[in-house]
Amino acid sequence: MLGNSSRDQDLLLDQFNGLSAEYEMKPDVLAPREGQFDFSGADRLIDFAEANNLSVRGHALLWHEATPDYFLTGTNTEIRNKLETFISTVVDRYRGRVEIWDVVNEPILNWFEPEPGPWRNTNWLQAVGGPEYVTWAFEAARAADPNAKLFLNDYDTENPTKRGYLVDAVQSLLDAGVPIDGVGHQCHFIPGTDINEVRATLDAIDNLFAGLEQHITELDMNIYTDPGECWERGANCQADYGANTPDDVLAAQAQQARDMFDMLITRTSVTNVTLWGLQDGQSWLNGNPIDRTNSPLLFNRNYEPKPAFEAITDPAYVIGG
Ligand code: XIL
Repeated sequence: MLGNSSRDQDLLLDQFNGLSAEYEMKPDVLAPREGQFDFSGADRLIDFAEANNLSVRGHALLWHEATPDYFLTGTNTEIRNKLETFISTVVDRYRGRVEIWDVVNEPILNWFEPEPGPWRNTNWLQAVGGPEYVTWAFEAARAADPNAKLFLNDYDTENPTKRGYLVDAVQSLLDAGVPIDGVGHQCHFIPGTDINEVRATLDAIDNLFAGLEQHITELDMNIYTDPGECWERGANCQADYGANTPDDVLAAQAQQARDMFDMLITRTSVTNVTLWGLQDGQSWLNGNPIDRTNSPLLFNRNYEPKPAFEAITDPAYVIGG
């Protein structure tokens, strides 16, 4: 999340010590056509990070939504070869410069989708016929950089049903000796997200006793609560608050942020928290699931700290006071 303006860069350098690539390092950007790589955006991001002593999270080597069609044609041997060529080229290029990779993004079945779990019925699962592609991806990444930290990353991991799938999936990878170092929890929150459920998921992964690290990888706090049909087809989305987010909404967001960080600080396996954007004006949630003014981050459109920022940095700050 480098941001496009110098104000974004100033905020990044002032308040953060690492960055994640919002889209610059996804397969459809790095290799839109087979055998053709475009590293321009990723190089720019990583050069900037290096020049400014920021750590880099590489996001993401495999994501069903960002997979060009050519990856998924042919026999399993051919698919595996294409995946390995892509991953080894990318990870090798940035060896020692990208410390953390989201190797596989969003492979877990959703709580609202039909069984069987734990793996999500994506284009990858269908093309390969099973979840072997997850193993191929992790092994290729490990071979290309033995020192990088390799993560499985997913959203809604606080949901109890999805938590069960996540635990089963990670356990099966551990049982098979797959080189996984950690689990990323995206944490795209909505107003009702219960931090106790986030804690329960972190505990469940800790309780695998595998020494996994846990990262919060895409934290934002949506001010809207939408039904599934809004995400699916833009239907029945919550009405736009407009330019001025109500104070009580920002206060509730601040309380959620404080509850989250008060909890995280007690969890020793949590070693990284990444916000999915710098300031409200450049959040993906202004365009997803519909175009609407959102304010899900810690800084507002004028780059000023919001109540949520005060709530997590100043224990004496009185929320709504
Ligand atoms: C989103 C980016 O924020 C957008 O800019 C891009 O157009 C689509 O992807 N889960 C993820 C992220 O893992 O990669 C997604 O990022 C948001 C949901």
